[in-house]
Amino acid sequence: MILPIYAYGHTVLRRRAEEMPLRGEELQQFIADMWETMYNASGIGLAAPQVGKSWRLFVIDTLQASEDADGLKGVFIHPEIVETSAEEVEYEEGCLSIPDVYGSVLRPQRVRLRYMDEHLQWHERDFDGVAARVIQHEYDHLEGRLFTDLLKPLKRARIQKKLDAIRKGKVKTRYPMIFP
Ligand code: NI
Repeated sequence: MILPIYAYGHTVLRRRAEEMPLRGEELQQFIADMWETMYNASGIGLAAPQVGKSWRLFVIDTLQASEDADGLKGVFIHPEIVETSAEEVEYEEGCLSIPDVYGSVLRPQRVRLRYMDEHLQWHERDFDGVAARVIQHEYDHLEGRLFTDLLKPLKRARIQKKLDAIRKGKVKTRYPMIFP
């Protein structure tokens, strides 16, 4: 089932997400809905708060968007960033909750992540490049942070009108959204 995506300005995007309460069939159904919702919106990542659920889960599929050798597809439950590289890189980001807004964000080049997969098996893995980038963006959603918080002040000022318009629902998308 395609779920509506909560837009910038909604309080669920600013909350620290809580433990995943679903198990078994219910969890698998929610994950299936997350994939369907993300693909329908042509996204490469989607976090549970973006569909109005304040739970610590996100899905990522960078394989479709990049021919990167380190393309990544997976479900991440209760993720923890345990280490980040000192080296940082700039990369242009966007977000399905903030349509038509893009901006360059500085983040660590590599991260080590501990997380559970869709079968609730724990993993600890290093990620680099686009994978590391999308992981950090989605992880931020679970902490109530958005990429627009990390833009340089001048750039932020430049997109403020667009953010206000989104908050008021004055934006068109090809996918269903819920406005605050
Ligand atoms: Ni996002």
